[in-house]
Amino acid sequence: MNSSTDAPPNIEVITVPPNDQFGISSLLNTLVRNYMIPHETNNFWYALGGVLAMSLVLELVTGTLLIFAYTPDAAIAYQTTKHLLGSAWWSVVLNFHFYNSYLIFVLVMIHMMRVFISGAYRATKKGLWTVGVALAGIVFALSLTGESLHWDERGFAVPWHIGEFLEALGLAGVFNYAHKGLLVVSFATPKLIQIYAAHIVVLPALLLLAIVLHYYLIKQKGISLPFWQKISGRQDAFSAHMKAWAIYGVPILGAILLLAIFWQRDAGPAPQNLPISPYFGTKHGPGTLGVTSTFPISWTHGMNRFVAIAFKLEPDIWGTFIAMVIITLALLLIPMVDRARTEPHSWAEAFDLRTRGWAFLLIAVFWVILIVGTVTNQVTPIG
Ligand code: HEM
Ligand code: HEM
Repeated sequence: MNSSTDAPPNIEVITVPPNDQFGISSLLNTLVRNYMIPHETNNFWYALGGVLAMSLVLELVTGTLLIFAYTPDAAIAYQTTKHLLGSAWWSVVLNFHFYNSYLIFVLVMIHMMRVFISGAYRATKKGLWTVGVALAGIVFALSLTGESLHWDERGFAVPWHIGEFLEALGLAGVFNYAHKGLLVVSFATPKLIQIYAAHIVVLPALLLLAIVLHYYLIKQKGISLPFWQKISGRQDAFSAHMKAWAIYGVPILGAILLLAIFWQRDAGPAPQNLPISPYFGTKHGPGTLGVTSTFPISWTHGMNRFVAIAFKLEPDIWGTFIAMVIITLALLLIPMVDRARTEPHSWAEAFDLRTRGWAFLLIAVFWVILIVGTVTNQVTPIG
C-alpha cells in the first residue's frame, strides 16, 4: 500500500529518498561530484596540496603496517629496526615510510609558499592558515618522534634533548626525565614508549582532526584563484581536481617507492646505552659525538650550535626553543600584518611590498631560521 494514498487531507507527505541517498553515494555527491571549483585550480601548484594528502595517507598506511613488526623496548628496538632494514619486504615498508617523510616536509613547505604568494589567508581565511600552521607543527612532531623510534644513536638523541630541554625549564623532576638517566636501558624504555604513543596515536589523531578541519574550511570559504592564469569562469567538479592530484601524485609517489626498493640504508650506529654501540660508555651526548638529526629536523640542532657559538648560550637546547617560538609566531602573525584586503590579481600585487611588506618580512624570518639552522648543522655539527 502506498503511504501517500492513505494520508489524510492537509497533512504534508514526506517522500523518503531511496536508501543510497543516505549512504556513500550521497556523500560522494556532496563532497566530490556536486562540489564545483574553478577550472584553473586544476594546475600543478594547487594540486600539490592533494599530493601532500596522498603521501600522508600512505605514511599512515605504512606506519600502521610497521606497528606489527616494531617493539618500543630500548633493549631491542635498534635490533628490530636493523632486522626490518635487512628484510626484503619490511625494508621497502620502512624505507618508504622514511623517504616519504622527507617528501611530506618538502610538500608542506611548497604548499605553504604557494598559499602565501596567493595571499590566500586574507579576510575570512585567517583560521584556515592557522590550521595550516598547526598541521605543519604536527608533521614536524611526527618526523621528530619517528626519528627517535629508529633507535640508533640519532634516534637516541631525541629523548636526550627532551631531557635537556626539561632540565633547562626546571621540569625534569616533574616528568622524571633526567637526560643522563637514558644511559640505563630500563630508564630509557618508558621514555621510548611515550614517544611511540605520541607517534602512533596522539599525533596521527591530531593530524586527522586538523586535516578534516582544514578541508572543511576550504570547502566553506572557497578556494582562491591562481592570479597568474587567465580566469575563464568555468567550474569543474572536484573529481576533476582529484584527477590532477593523481596525475602529479602517482609519478612523485612512484619515485619514492622506487627509492624505497632500490636505495637501501644501513641502520646506523647503535644507541650509546647498548654494549654493542661504538659509543658505549662515553659520557658525551649524541651532538658532541657528531651524530645529528636528519634533514627535516637538522635545523634544530643547527640552531643549538648557532646560539652556543654566537651567544655562548648554555645549555644550547635553548637554540631549538627560541627558534621554534620565533618561527611559530612569525607564521601565526602573517595574516594579521598583511594589509591587502583581497587576494592578488597579478604578480605586481602579489609582491607589492607597500601592502605586503610585513608579511614578507615574517616569512623571511621563518626561512632565515630554517636555513641558518640547516647550514650551521652542516658546517659545524659537532657540539
Ligand atoms: C598536512 C599538511 C597540509 C595539507 C594536507 C593541506 C591540504 C590543502 C589542500 C588540499 C588545499 C586545497 C588547495 C591546494 O591544494 O592548494 C589547501 C589549501 C590551503 N591550505 Fe593547506 N594543507 C596543509 C598544510 C598547510 C599549511 C602548512 C598552511 C599554511 C601555513 C596551509 C594553508 C592553506 C590555505 C590558506 C589554503 C587555502 C588556499 C587557497 O584558497 O588558495 N595548509 N590545503
Ligand atoms: C605524517 C606522518 C608520519 C611521519 C612524518 C612519520 C615519520 C617517521 C619517521 C621519519 C620514522 C623513522 C624511520 C626510520 O628512520 O627508519 C618513523 C618510524 C616509525 N613510524 Fe612513522 N611517521 C608518520 C606516521 C606514522 C603512523 C601514523 C604510524 C602508526 C600508526 C607510524 C609508525 C611508525 C613506526 C612503528 C616506526 C618505527 C619503525 C622502525 O624504526 O623500525 N608512523 N616514522
